[in-house]
Amino acid sequence: MKIAVASDHAGYVLKAGVVKHLSEKGVVYQDYGCFSEESVDYVDFAVRAMEAVLKGECDRAILVCGTGLGMGIVANKFKGIRATPCMDAYMAEMSRSHNNSNCLTLGGRILPLDEALPVVDTWLEASFESGRHGDRLQKIKDIENKYFK
Ligand code: RB5
Repeated sequence: MKIAVASDHAGYVLKAGVVKHLSEKGVVYQDYGCFSEESVDYVDFAVRAMEAVLKGECDRAILVCGTGLGMGIVANKFKGIRATPCMDAYMAEMSRSHNNSNCLTLGGRILPLDEALPVVDTWLEASFESGRHGDRLQKIKDIENKYFK
């Protein structure tokens, strides 16, 4: 599994910590920027990571902005992306087991690194339960197919 990682300036420091952690764990990733705390638009970096997922170059994504919210809004514009802002390990577990999240969004101004890493690890390791949750995701796919041509 290859993870696309991206942030804006407000998520840059947390992203750097997440990337170091992924490296140490041996998780394969591609960092799509940004690469400093100079102000940028989160939209541009979310798009880069989402394009990598849609092209099949990466399997899932971790996006970091100030709150995780802007990144989540952009990511969820892409067909097939289920982006979930998570603030703790319970949300991360549910985002995978019930929502089959393929994009974790984090807030660099919300979580310190030591609280974010358990969120990342849980999200990486938890599995989708399928069953009734799959039926619900099918309804979301139906919305995409009906309203997003
Ligand atoms: C940048 O100031 C901030 O708006 C951005 O990082 C993000 O939190 C937006 O949702």
